Amino acid sequence: MLPVEIKPGIFWIGVNDRITQLFEGLWDISKEGVSYNSYLIRDEKTAVIDLNKVIMTGEYMDKLQSLTGLEKLDYVIINHMEPDHTGVLRTLLKIAPKVQLIGTAKTVGMLQDFYGITENLRAVADGETLTLGKHTLRFFVTPFLHWPETMMTYEESEQMLFSCDAFGSYGVLNGTIFDDAGVPLDWYEEQALRYYVNIIAIFSKPVNNALAKLASLPVRIIAPSHGLIWHNNPGRMIELYKKWASLTTEPADPAVTLLYTSMYGNTEAMMEAVAQGIVDAGVPLTIYNVSQTPISYILPSLYTRQGVMVGAPTYEGGLFPDMKTALEMAEGKHIYNRKTAIFGSHAWLGGGEKEFLSLVEVLKWESLGSLIFKGAPGYEELVQGRAFGLEFARKIKA
Ligand SMILES: Cc1cc2nc3c(=O)[nH]c(=O)nc-3n(C[C@H](O)[C@H](O)[C@H](O)COP(=O)(O)O)c2cc1C
Ligand SMILES: [Fe+2]
Ligand SMILES: [Fe+2]
Repeated sequence: MLPVEIKPGIFWIGVNDRITQLFEGLWDISKEGVSYNSYLIRDEKTAVIDLNKVIMTGEYMDKLQSLTGLEKLDYVIINHMEPDHTGVLRTLLKIAPKVQLIGTAKTVGMLQDFYGITENLRAVADGETLTLGKHTLRFFVTPFLHWPETMMTYEESEQMLFSCDAFGSYGVLNGTIFDDAGVPLDWYEEQALRYYVNIIAIFSKPVNNALAKLASLPVRIIAPSHGLIWHNNPGRMIELYKKWASLTTEPADPAVTLLYTSMYGNTEAMMEAVAQGIVDAGVPLTIYNVSQTPISYILPSLYTRQGVMVGAPTYEGGLFPDMKTALEMAEGKHIYNRKTAIFGSHAWLGGGEKEFLSLVEVLKWESLGSLIFKGAPGYEELVQGRAFGLEFARKIKA
């Protein structure tokens, strides 16, 4: 995409990444892609806010150069040191060695560690300002969103918040950078939730601290470092962040995530009956095969729903490995205090249930029951499975 002038003198100069398959080497974005948003303010002084990932260096430099002479750049504002926003720095400094780099005190240390940079660094304190001419930037230190050095930058004349990863989403920008009518906002919100749960959720307390710090600030535009620029309805994102951050302490939605996996279809046959029972209770249900669905997509459902029904066979005396991994990822993302139950097939001594119970104990998930059977489930067992699903879902609703 060509640069976009968001407000007089303030430009989006981001890049779409349709190449990377795994964001942070872990989270599947093979279908959605991601954008690295970067911004240029042209005034008596010029400043770039957030940069770009190294793989996009050529396109990024061309875009920046189309608007300003690189050697004339005065400031680079580094809201966050993660390489998806700083990767092009080494190349940029070869062209513009005098540019001043601005970040928090922790950013300054990290710039040495990552890029060996020791000169032209300026650490700013919370609330400090930088005047570019007509535009004044104010810096808000917002630690652990989602690294220790993170901050946000606020442009006062346009009331524009450059929030970096906060309020960001997966998903490339398709022809427009804005949350305007006609843009699939539901899809971007889904991608923002997935981004939140994958990357930000364990820092929900710092999110609340940041929201409190920014509460009295008039914000007309939120310009994050990934995904849409929220100029139409910035309040919507702030409301969503309040809700998502609250889910680490408040009960989640009365709905069920059904996670299952199956080698030969025995557990899967039971899954179909259990699912029927859950829907019989009128409770919303989402089903994921943990061996086929990347964990990035499963975690948002676990994060927002109170019930987790688990279906997995025994494998070498324990729980089927992919299910174990899924539950361990939930633990890694601090998705605690859910209600759960297990069903699954085995052939001799079993052992899946036992390992499941020890895994969910760590998660502080309350186990409401088990339905374990040998080999293929018979008709009577399937009827039992439907009742098992119904009973579980009723407890989730209650
Ligand atoms: C590699 C492998 C390891 C297994 N380990 C155990 C085990 O330790 N204990 C047990 O009771 N059954 C074990 N089983 C048997 C399965 O749990 C059983 O076949 C079950 O019906 C599979 O359910 P599914 O069709 O949903 O995959 C194992 C099966 C395989 C293929
Ligand atoms: Fe980040
Ligand atoms: Fe990022």
